[in-house]
Amino acid sequence: MFKHVLTFSLFCAGLVLVASLARSSADARGTADAKAIERGKYLVTAMGCNDCHTPWQLGPNGPEPDMTRMLSGHPAALVMPPAPKLPEGPWAFTAAGTMTAWAGPWGTSFTANLTPDEETGLGRWTEKDFAETLRSGRHLGRGRELLPPMPWPNVASLSDADLGAVFAYLKSIPAVSNRVPEPLPPAAQR
Ligand code: HEC
Repeated sequence: MFKHVLTFSLFCAGLVLVASLARSSADARGTADAKAIERGKYLVTAMGCNDCHTPWQLGPNGPEPDMTRMLSGHPAALVMPPAPKLPEGPWAFTAAGTMTAWAGPWGTSFTANLTPDEETGLGRWTEKDFAETLRSGRHLGRGRELLPPMPWPNVASLSDADLGAVFAYLKSIPAVSNRVPEPLPPAAQR
């Protein structure tokens, strides 16, 4: 009888131990994720991703990024007229006041939706897709080359951990449904 009680108590103690180990490793993972997200937010802010991927509007103190549409790219509703004739001489390109559409010798480019929206943003991207895109300067590491002024070589200089942190942060922000137009070839310019 005593032996049974002892075995049972050992069994219960074992269960409690396993449960608490599982919980502490989940807590550790949660803390690691939270740390990565915080680091990613710091990098995205300092590296100026909002300068181009968040549409700018005129605020009380002048132009400012519209953080209600944070990192959602060129607004689909803002249909741009054909870009003006390219400037001559030392002037090289033109940009929309939203900072989300750019025209130059490469054609017209529109900044991407970096929010986790499944249909129009990075929702279906894996960390590998993200890293391969930014390390190679090609869509998903094998598609077309990223157009100016996306400063991908700057982003490519981040360590694997920091690039992963940027992606973790982008996955944590509010999803915004916004389908960014495809880039236009130079011929479509006036
Ligand atoms: C100076 C403006 C500018 C800045 C700053 C900028 N981007 Fe971009 N980004 C663009 C443009 C324009 C495109 C679209 C390029 C194209 O269509 O080829 C783009 C595209 C992207 C893409 C989409 C790639 C794809 O294949 O769909 C990702 C991801 C991206 N940027 C991430 C970032 C991150 C992260 C930062 C901050 C570290 C950042 N960008 C900063 C202009 C910018």
